[in-house]
Amino acid sequence: MDVKDARVLVPGATGVIGAALAERLYGLGARIAVAGRDPDSLSRVAAACGDAPARRLDAYDLDGCARSIPWAVGELGGLDAVVVCVGVAGFGPAEEVGDTVAEHLLTVNALAPVAVLRAALAAVPAGGVLAAVTGVVVDAAPAGMADYAASKAALATWLTSVRRERRRTGPAVVDIRLSHVESGFAERAVCGTPPTLPRGRTVDEAVDRILDALTSGGAGAGHGP
Ligand SMILES: NC(=O)c1ccc[n+]([C@@H]2O[C@H](COP(=O)([O-])OP(=O)(O)OC[C@H]3O[C@@H](n4cnc5c(N)ncnc54)[C@H](OP(=O)(O)O)[C@@H]3O)[C@@H](O)[C@H]2O)c1
Repeated sequence: MDVKDARVLVPGATGVIGAALAERLYGLGARIAVAGRDPDSLSRVAAACGDAPARRLDAYDLDGCARSIPWAVGELGGLDAVVVCVGVAGFGPAEEVGDTVAEHLLTVNALAPVAVLRAALAAVPAGGVLAAVTGVVVDAAPAGMADYAASKAALATWLTSVRRERRRTGPAVVDIRLSHVESGFAERAVCGTPPTLPRGRTVDEAVDRILDALTSGGAGAGHGP
């Protein structure tokens, strides 16, 4: 996908990586629509992207997540790519992570991204990209992250299956499995304390990686078509 003039929706543009991605895409000439939960961050990122159209997105409102797609199509006059950057971490041994937290992790990390991308299947044409950020936890399944890793693995498996369904006719379906990024994400976990992690990638490096994946239709992510 050529980023210049591409019409791109970034759900989770209120987060550190999503905001940096939206701003980079805008700087490269893409036309951006942003969606996110925190109203102040949403206003800030919309302003930084040339007063981009902006919409509230709450992971617990799956219909609202899906409706972000026709909204973005209307605002941008079509849609060439969707890059879901919504996510939340959770830490702790499985017996200490209650079912309420498990439901939260699955909703934010799997059900909400799937609701957005399912709706986007009918809107983004061949040549476009449907992408979500998962993480290396999908492959590593580290101790102390069972429910977080399982929620990201659920999203990753959904992406793999849809990629197979759409390999001849649809947009590229891309799973971007980032390793640890110094965005403060682990410190915003919904439960538990993060393990001591080696220094991660910078946010700029993470954005480079996502852009590679978008422009190569997934080859840069290692989990493309
Ligand atoms: N940073 C890392 O080490 C790392 C590594 C691998 C993968 N990832 C993935 O990268 C993505 C971006 O992470 P980040 O580092 O930029 O973290 P972040 O700054 O905490 O961003 C998280 C994003 O998810 C949104 N979100 C969380 N809970 C939500 C809810 N209930 N409803 C709607 N939106 C919700 C946040 O919205 P608000 O800010 O508006 O509340 C924010 O836009 C996530 O999917 C994360 O899993 C991160």
